[in-house]
Amino acid sequence: MSKLEIIDLHVSVETEDGPKEILKGVTLTINSGETHAIMGPNGSGKSTLAYSIAGHPRYAVTGGSVTLDGEDVLAMSVDERARAGLFLAMQYPVEVPGVSVSNFLRTAKTAIDGEAPKLRTWVKEVNAALEDLDLDTTFAQRSVNEGFSGGEKKRHEIAQLELLAPKMAILDETDSGLDIDALKTVSDGVNRFAEGGEKGVLLITHYTRILRYIKPDFVHVFVDGKIAEEGGPELADQLEAEGYERFLKAAAV
Ligand SMILES: Nc1ncnc2c1ncn2[C@@H]1O[C@H](COP(=O)(O)OP(=O)(O)OP(=O)(O)O)[C@@H](O)[C@H]1O
Ligand SMILES: [Mg+2]
Repeated sequence: MSKLEIIDLHVSVETEDGPKEILKGVTLTINSGETHAIMGPNGSGKSTLAYSIAGHPRYAVTGGSVTLDGEDVLAMSVDERARAGLFLAMQYPVEVPGVSVSNFLRTAKTAIDGEAPKLRTWVKEVNAALEDLDLDTTFAQRSVNEGFSGGEKKRHEIAQLELLAPKMAILDETDSGLDIDALKTVSDGVNRFAEGGEKGVLLITHYTRILRYIKPDFVHVFVDGKIAEEGGPELADQLEAEGYERFLKAAAV
């Protein structure tokens, strides 16, 4: 049983006009076995939350806490966070020219487990993960994200998720840029992960489309750096029908 606990998290970024507060007190608990969806308008701070948990240096935590099974995540280096079992799939994954998918995955797995995976079984696992995501096995020889289509980037991230087997996965707009078949393939991958034992998922999305395939236990509406409302899957349908206007008005007063 794992628990990711975010309490009253405040995060700022450095801008030309000085620090700007983006997260204004986020409180959220994700237990293993739970899938949480965060939905909210552009610029409300969803990616900032994901990056802050993952330890991106651009985001300065000015208050609150993040713990994983009681351990202080904010005191950990980025590596330590990954080793502790946190995984972030980014909205815009970076290109790593000259580093093959195969080498990248093996290095990441070695870093997380503290020992290199056995070569023979590892190659099989990698091929199986790629195949599950409808990626050709030659994909493993390509440079990470270089020239990948939008859909290939997202599939590659889910392959990482399956192979690295973290405790908690934060998926930032894993559904963006996917065609209908890829959406199903990626969703199946996330579901395999979520069902594979004691795993927690935080899914950031704009569309209820993906929530037809990945069933969230909880939906959180994110507005202006905070959670404005929480509910079950029905809240996503309500947002699809009504938009964010009601929350934006409430945030403005
Ligand atoms: N380095 C920065 N300088 C200035 N503003 C920043 C910086 N980084 C983030 N922001 C601002 O923080 C706010 C939140 O951005 P964030 O990317 O977290 O939003 P989001 O909810 O993920 O939006 P989207 O739905 O478009 O992905 C935005 O207004 C953004 O412009
Ligand atoms: Mg974002």
